[in-house]
Amino acid sequence: MDMQVIPARSENYNLKDYQKVRENFKWDDVNKHFAWNETGKVNIAYEALDRHAENPAKKDKVALLYSAPDREEQLTFSDLSKQSNKFANVLKKHQVNKGDRVFLFMPRSPEFYAAFFGILKTGAIAGPLFEAFMEQAVRDRLQDSEASVLITTPELIERVPQDELPQLETVILVGEAGVAHTYIDYHTEMAGASEAFDIEWVDLEDGMLLHYTSGSTGKPKGVYHVHNAMIQHYATGEWVLDLKEDDVYWCTADPGWVTGTSYGIFAPWLHGVTNVIRGGRFTPDDWYETLEKNKITVWYTAPTALRMLVSHGEEALKKYDLLELRHIMSVGEPLNPEVVTWGLKAFNLRIHDTWWMTETGAQLIVNLPALEIRPGSMGKPIPGIVASIVDNEGNELPPNQMGNLAIKEGWPSMMRQIWNNPGKYESYFINGWYVSGDSAYRDEDGYFWFQGRLDDVINTSGERVGPFEVESKLIEHPAVAEAGVIGKPHPERGEIIKAFISLNEGYEKSDELLEEIRQFVKTGLSAHAAPREIEIRDSIPKTRSGKIMRRLLKSWELGLPTGDTSTLEE
Ligand code: PRX
Repeated sequence: MDMQVIPARSENYNLKDYQKVRENFKWDDVNKHFAWNETGKVNIAYEALDRHAENPAKKDKVALLYSAPDREEQLTFSDLSKQSNKFANVLKKHQVNKGDRVFLFMPRSPEFYAAFFGILKTGAIAGPLFEAFMEQAVRDRLQDSEASVLITTPELIERVPQDELPQLETVILVGEAGVAHTYIDYHTEMAGASEAFDIEWVDLEDGMLLHYTSGSTGKPKGVYHVHNAMIQHYATGEWVLDLKEDDVYWCTADPGWVTGTSYGIFAPWLHGVTNVIRGGRFTPDDWYETLEKNKITVWYTAPTALRMLVSHGEEALKKYDLLELRHIMSVGEPLNPEVVTWGLKAFNLRIHDTWWMTETGAQLIVNLPALEIRPGSMGKPIPGIVASIVDNEGNELPPNQMGNLAIKEGWPSMMRQIWNNPGKYESYFINGWYVSGDSAYRDEDGYFWFQGRLDDVINTSGERVGPFEVESKLIEHPAVAEAGVIGKPHPERGEIIKAFISLNEGYEKSDELLEEIRQFVKTGLSAHAAPREIEIRDSIPKTRSGKIMRRLLKSWELGLPTGDTSTLEE
């Protein structure tokens, strides 16, 4: 077979000789880049902010370049260090201690980042929530984590069911200064707080972050990350993001998702690089304008966004001067080979696919600048990572055979717990391998090729949605008797959410009813979890033990053979 190959970039990269670096690499080699290697005192907030703020050559460099249609702001490393100190003092005043869970439910803004680092500086665990979450999604996460403090906005507070959250002691509102009469007001508290703070030194294995993510069963689970992850954030910032001192970097992900923290916060700031933050959802012209206006050099985005740009056409692109842009990466869903080819033509740049998960904390399988790209492949494991394809017992499979994409246990940024759920955590590991839930194969040259999910997790526009959560919400609607939810392939969004439902006695099918049910999920759970298609059936296929047979629904939907249905209920 003729394989298209895009040659490695010609600049002089440290990883030019990939094999040699891989063979000689030890994670401990990365330690020398951190202050704690000499002082013995650890806190990721210190490494990402205060260290630069203490460096005369760095302190006045722009750390955060906030760029929103209605607000532009620049914070230097020194500003952000002081602002987060102030916020840490605010938290201390409200009795926050090491290990407490402090959640953020608000859009991206300079205040978000000051608060985020303020949390880490107290040794507490930060829990960022995506701003589109509705009441149930917020409740589930705050209940499970037993968060004691929440930072949110006057607009979003309505979605926080405080009477059902007995452990939530403090709510801080970020709005217009002074408007939060019945709540603690962010701006008032900050005005009275000191810029000096004694950072809480922690252990590398102490917690820093909880990201909730969906599986195929049960409610979302709290993926727990520790300060040690910085080792991998730093290393991949160098190898994969290719960050250099003068870069202007933009990661488009919201910090409610792991890409928005590992690569929207930690990797760029551990490297002391200027980081562009822009909130909201964007139109193709917004993407181009942001790239042009801020002279962005390194851009980390997602296939859905890139596909939108492709369909927006090349004429649109010609209006913009993007000559500063030198490095593009993608994550979250399969990156279509056509998009990679388009990137070469449109930007004259390679688009580097990267593969990882909330649970892995950082990139694992990637296309490095120093490696040739095989469009459609996720690339190769970074140095320090052993990846393979294994069968269900954890035995390695030969090249070109499809199986479970698995990683040898024990890399720096690996999750350390599923919050409150040790059994769930254990279930990820088989025979020394972390089993990802993705199916893939590896070619003879060690390139990995993504094939799909092995479980029922849905990936819509790069956002991970658990069918159980959507089904549970659907059946709360009085008209819905049963519900089964699947991901249906979609050219732009990867997958869309399709729900099959059966109706309760007394309800008739109508377009109004379907729309009402859709809105019910949208306003109760979140917009991205609302089914775009709903189909009514007389009954929903279940196993004899009562489990929804989503696999069967999917086969019906796609017109595929239905496979083994021996466990189907009569
Ligand atoms: O199925 C894979 C898909 O996204 C899942 C992880 O989702 P999440 O935890 O939300 O993290 C997303 C960003 C880190 C994976 O199990 N996925 C992620 N990257 C890729 C991908 N699928 C194909 N190609 C990728 N590069």
